[in-house]
Amino acid sequence: MAAATLRVAGVLQVPGDKSISHRSLMFGALATGRSRVRGLLQSADVIATADSLRAMGWTIPPLASEMVIDGCGMRPRDGGADAALPCANSGTTARLMSGIASAQRVSSVLDGDASLRTRPMRRVSEPLEAMGARFEWLGTEGRVPMRITGGALRSIDWTLGVASAQVKSAILLAGLCSGTPVRVTEPLETRDHTERFLRAAGASIHVQGRAVTLGATERLNPVDVEVPGDPSSAAFFAALAAGAGEGSLVLQGVLLNPRRTGFLRVLERMGAVVHVESARESAGEPVGDLVVRGSSLRGTSIEPDEVPSLIDEVPVLAVLAALAEGETTVAGAEELRVKESDRIATVVSNLRACGVDAEERPDGLVVRGPSRVQDASIVTHGDHRIAMAFGILGALTGRDLRIDDPACVNVSFPSFWPDLARVTR
Ligand code: S3P
Repeated sequence: MAAATLRVAGVLQVPGDKSISHRSLMFGALATGRSRVRGLLQSADVIATADSLRAMGWTIPPLASEMVIDGCGMRPRDGGADAALPCANSGTTARLMSGIASAQRVSSVLDGDASLRTRPMRRVSEPLEAMGARFEWLGTEGRVPMRITGGALRSIDWTLGVASAQVKSAILLAGLCSGTPVRVTEPLETRDHTERFLRAAGASIHVQGRAVTLGATERLNPVDVEVPGDPSSAAFFAALAAGAGEGSLVLQGVLLNPRRTGFLRVLERMGAVVHVESARESAGEPVGDLVVRGSSLRGTSIEPDEVPSLIDEVPVLAVLAALAEGETTVAGAEELRVKESDRIATVVSNLRACGVDAEERPDGLVVRGPSRVQDASIVTHGDHRIAMAFGILGALTGRDLRIDDPACVNVSFPSFWPDLARVTR
């Protein structure tokens, strides 16, 4: 049952992809020579990566939609005091910078906000210690703040215990920066932006099934990047259009890497009409314009093997499920418990506050719709994707969903609220 009251219309250019923005700055710094980056996401998480790279000795200009980065190679400092890396709310900064830090000649201290201080870091310390880096826990075991003392690393052949692009990338970056070959095998395919950057920058990288092998690399070429629109941000507006009673939305220039677009396949299963127009390639990634229109929605089941391709989109798919006919289940998504908040608990408790029939499972959730959504106070725990998911539910139902921390959207999508107001006017 689509929310018949809402009409949507408009064309949106969603902000640059967050994963590619982090990597654009890192690869720009690590290269030897000048890289150009256009369309970078200017948000709190990406600022954390820029600040962390600066603390380690690279020169990163202020973030802008067009940037020039003069990379000076993979080990910019030759000693001196610890580098303090302010990772803020950003798991991607903390995990990927751990890989880079492990190969440096200076020690680094990584820290972040209250949310980051609860997130697991052993998943990176274990492989990086196996390569020869040293981790010291300065607060709670296995969490930031942590000190990493790097140096000459040895080669590893590592099988990941969790499907995580962040951990895969940390190992690849450690191998890259120390000139050491590494092999990483993942249990399920996760986003492959690091591999694409490595290939574009001339590293010797070989992908066979779920195993990625990086050869010893001395020097990285600069690459020019046009950052495509973030599918994880587009997902909020795609869900809005899918649930609206009338109208459609055009989302321009969205990254359509199949390892990121599981949510589109789910929206189609739920009954939404999704078209890709002007399919093209940009910086080695598939990109296109999405046109999304609503229809009567039905529940679906999201299976473990598709979870990595939509891991960040589960909150918005769960709120949409509240308006769909029948049951929606998500399984194999226990990683959601260690995101910016415990997203299984946070989504379910907020849905219930809205009067929706929703239940937690250890590795996922169940939502039974369609529900009559009621006014409610939404507790985000500072989690940007929770704020935006319930912003979409509020717009679709016309209910007063009072979000406790609307500004937390600055982590990934600073223009979210004005964009939402514009397309629902
Ligand atoms: C990211 C990987 C994912 C994702 C995060 C960004 C990346 O995390 O949830 O928002 O840029 O590599 P995991 O690798 O921990 O699943």
